[in-house]
Amino acid sequence: KLVLGKKGDLAGCRVVVTAGGTQEPIDPVRYVGNRSSGKMGYALAEEARDRGAHVVLISGPVSLPVPYGVELRRVETAAQMQAAVFSAVTNADVLIMSAAVADFRPAHPASQKIKKRLGGGRGAGEGENTGEQATDGSFSLHLIKNPDILGELAQMQDLPRRLVRVGFAAETENVVENAKDKLHRKQLDLLVANDVTRSDSGFGTNTNKVTLFHANGVMEDLPVMPKTGVAAAIWDRVVSLLS
Ligand code: CTP
Ligand code: CA
Repeated sequence: KLVLGKKGDLAGCRVVVTAGGTQEPIDPVRYVGNRSSGKMGYALAEEARDRGAHVVLISGPVSLPVPYGVELRRVETAAQMQAAVFSAVTNADVLIMSAAVADFRPAHPASQKIKKRLGGGRGAGEGENTGEQATDGSFSLHLIKNPDILGELAQMQDLPRRLVRVGFAAETENVVENAKDKLHRKQLDLLVANDVTRSDSGFGTNTNKVTLFHANGVMEDLPVMPKTGVAAAIWDRVVSLLS
């Protein structure tokens, strides 16, 4: 077997990593999205590749080079990401959801560009309900809930083999409580909580300050590290979960 890179402790493993943010169309030129550079997810994919894993990287739109030696599947919306994840995990050992999935999407994306002038364009077509323009110049968008990909996986009993599941949580407050809640609600093996209010952590940065929450209650505060180092630390934990 060909093993790329130094460690090889993921040789023979099939892993799925999601990265970037989803984009939910409002009309052909606009979207609702989450902030995410994709750097953390791409670092996770490259680290797994270097350890010998077969890597499927499911990525929202990002401006990062295509990593060598991983299977890249590009998606835009949460619905597309869900379909890609559900199909990829059927024969995977590990899923790491580092993508920033938009929680809501416009109920009916307009088929034509919405014009800012009231009644100034076709905007939503017949029967569509994208949003409402009011006479005071305001516009309100109707959003509906997206599927919770990890949440639905937690309910799925019929996966052909045990899937180690890792989630991320970008929090601005009550990090510990929110992280513990998500770990249990989504039945994760590991939750990586990220305080995005820090300037050395989170969106667009090359470093991250994370706290790991394990299913057995153990909590690990990691120091500020490059995202590549955080990726290595996460795979170290996953490797011990797999053995
Ligand atoms: N996630 C997911 N599907 C969604 C939303 C989030 O699978 N529709 C995943 C994320 O990729 C992440 C984890 O769930 O790994 C936690 O995401 P987060 O947005 O922090 O959790 P939510 O359950 O959406 O809660 P909230 O945004 O209200 O904090
Ligand atoms: Ca969310």
